Amino acid sequence: MRNGISHAIDVVEAPASKIDSVDFDNLVFGNVFTDHMMECDYVDGQWQNPTIKPYGPIQLEPSAKVFHYGQAIFEGMKAFKDDEDQVWLFRPEANIDRFNKSSVRLAIPEFPKEMFLEGLETLLNLDRDWIKKGLGNSLYIRPFVIATEPGVSASPSKSYKFMIICSPAKAYYSGEVRVVFAEKFSRAANGGVGYAKAAGNYGAQFYPTNLAKEEGYQQIIWTDANTHEYLEEAGTMNIFFRVGDKLLTAPISDRILDGVTRKSVIALAEENNIPIEVRRVTVKEIVEAAKKGELKEIFGAGTAATINPIKGFGHMGEKYELPEQAESYAKFFKSKLMDIQYNRAEDKFDWRYLVEKK
Ligand SMILES: Cc1ncc(COP(=O)(O)O)c(C=O)c1O
Repeated sequence: MRNGISHAIDVVEAPASKIDSVDFDNLVFGNVFTDHMMECDYVDGQWQNPTIKPYGPIQLEPSAKVFHYGQAIFEGMKAFKDDEDQVWLFRPEANIDRFNKSSVRLAIPEFPKEMFLEGLETLLNLDRDWIKKGLGNSLYIRPFVIATEPGVSASPSKSYKFMIICSPAKAYYSGEVRVVFAEKFSRAANGGVGYAKAAGNYGAQFYPTNLAKEEGYQQIIWTDANTHEYLEEAGTMNIFFRVGDKLLTAPISDRILDGVTRKSVIALAEENNIPIEVRRVTVKEIVEAAKKGELKEIFGAGTAATINPIKGFGHMGEKYELPEQAESYAKFFKSKLMDIQYNRAEDKFDWRYLVEKK
């Protein structure tokens, strides 16, 4: 017991592994899960009995508050295997801190950081074989918390379930991505929950994104809810614009997720003397830059894709295509980040976290 919280993690191993039934060459992102998962319940004012057990269904009352009032938050992080079979996480403490920030905003009790990391490392050790070597292969890690208290009164739940599930992933390629700048719908408002990884932020994007898809766009770049004049972020990525040789990205705020990839790109830009401005970016300046041929690149930054180049955008019924770049910033940052993640380059910023073999 430490601080009244038991860190002893019970481990129940799966009787047999499913790994041989998985086609690792044809993985669809997020569809296959490893043999084990972590589970921990918040009861009587404490997170108790952390357990790692075989991956499988959970039972909840139909009146569990998560279904009615949306108290649910999550994270997305990745583990990588290097050529020596060592397993690495990328800036895991940033994800854990953000997990707890999201929890606070949704009136969910914070999860002890040490227990999170200890549980995650135990889980990764058990499911080590699911992490394949080779650039592009990774294990996507999905920690989340849901409100489990039965009862349909609109008040914060008194009980919660924390879980971590893991899904093997291949190099992410989502096809050519074209985006539309939001003109009507909004993702987040001042004083709202945009900065949290709250499940509802994602559910609310599906309908406008479906409409955008009908117009030939794969994603929406969200603009500020008040004026739709400022470009903020995409549905699961922060967003960068290259005008001439200068990079632009919006500052984080209570409407924008503080992306781990985003802050890593900013640090790498500064280290490599790539001019970068973190400031409000207007729709007007990006449309004008595109018209003048000065807009060289747009790319998204997020854990799933690392860096996702964007081929074109739409605004007010006009479509704009971006030119191919021989010396693309997107490629540069992607390879810099991957070299660090896969232990192929020096880790000057101390971003890699070794998962000790146990
Ligand atoms: C809304 C949103 N913005 C940005 C990101 C990128 O954040 P990160 O780089 O930490 O994955 C994500 C994904 O986590 C997201 O869901």
